[in-house]
Amino acid sequence: MAAVLLGLLLFAMQSPPVPSRPTADGRPPLPPTSLPTSHPNGTLQQLPKIIIIGVRKGGTRALIEMLSLHSAVAAAQNEVHFFDWESHFQKGLPWYLSQMPYTFPGQLTVEKTPAYFTSSKVPKRIHQMDPDIKLLLILRDPTERVLSDYTQVFYNRLQKHKHCQPIESVLVKDGEINLGYKALNRSLYYVHMQNWLQYFTLGSIYVVDGDELIRDPFPEMKKVESFLNLEPQINTSNFYFNKTKGFYCLRDHGRERCLHDSKGRAHPNVAPAILQKLYQFFHEPNQKFFELVGRTFNWK
Ligand SMILES: *[C@@H]1O[C@H](CO)[C@@H](O)[C@H](O)[C@H]1NC(C)=O
Ligand SMILES: *[C@@H]1O[C@H](CO)[C@@H](O)[C@H](O)[C@H]1NC(C)=O
Ligand SMILES: *[C@@H]1O[C@H](CO)[C@@H](O)[C@H](O)[C@H]1NC(C)=O
Ligand SMILES: *[C@@H]1O[C@H](CO)[C@@H](O)[C@H](O)[C@H]1NC(C)=O
Repeated sequence: MAAVLLGLLLFAMQSPPVPSRPTADGRPPLPPTSLPTSHPNGTLQQLPKIIIIGVRKGGTRALIEMLSLHSAVAAAQNEVHFFDWESHFQKGLPWYLSQMPYTFPGQLTVEKTPAYFTSSKVPKRIHQMDPDIKLLLILRDPTERVLSDYTQVFYNRLQKHKHCQPIESVLVKDGEINLGYKALNRSLYYVHMQNWLQYFTLGSIYVVDGDELIRDPFPEMKKVESFLNLEPQINTSNFYFNKTKGFYCLRDHGRERCLHDSKGRAHPNVAPAILQKLYQFFHEPNQKFFELVGRTFNWK
């Protein structure tokens, strides 16, 4: 009897199949079409309506945690790497969908994979899935980001007992800034932004000021809420300053949590002359980025 009832319930809750939508450029849609799989408790897995596309070390973890304070938003647990890793992309949208959290129908799913921003094949692929998707890009001062990028790789290598090169020797080659250093390239924001603007307008991409989000999260999160057309819900009581850590922690329904300690790791000491060279190096690329997005940022 119970089994029959459950069967009927499951049957009643199955959503009709979503018709496959031809893409704007006439190409066939990504095979095969995704079907929402609903669960008896009323939740289902949904494709993201929001993607945090980067940048690596820009504050993407902080942003997705803060966004999750909103009851209409549900975040994927892990960095999915669907659009940038071929082995994942070949599994198709049903696999992507299977990585998403169970949510109620009105909720918006968000995933973050910081590597999307600097991968040139990703904008087209996301556009093919959903041309109306909302993209969030969180950026920090490009020089600070390079140092943070280096620091992460340094600690990862240290843990694996691998050799670590001092930062000076990767940043500078023959007295000049080393353009072959990948972390440097990732901070050339305008280069990557140009790829995205071939598929999306500025109305679909909101650039979050990562330096401001860390310094004073509430005003930045209000702007994010507004860009996503979310009902204003995140408020100042969701944040409190931890003096020991020197940055804000989150309060979610009385539960307090701070971001993982590695997020606040000290940067290497870089010779002032090299630091100066870096700031100078990024001056022009930064101007190009400001022109592209029609906005300036308070970068050194
Ligand atoms: C509903 O079921 C899914 C799948 O088992 C589970 O992950 C989710 O936590 C459940 N949600 C609620 C609100 O019960
Ligand atoms: C930086 O990366 C982009 C995108 O991957 C690539 O097209 C470009 O050639 C790189 N630039 C340099 C100087 O390595
Ligand atoms: C802030 O939001 C919480 C719920 O997240 C609510 O309980 C509280 O009343 C709100 N505070 C203000 C000042 O709106
Ligand atoms: C503040 O940060 C310190 C150092 O990381 C930590 O031990 C402590 O639990 C934090 N306090 C609160 C209230 O978050």
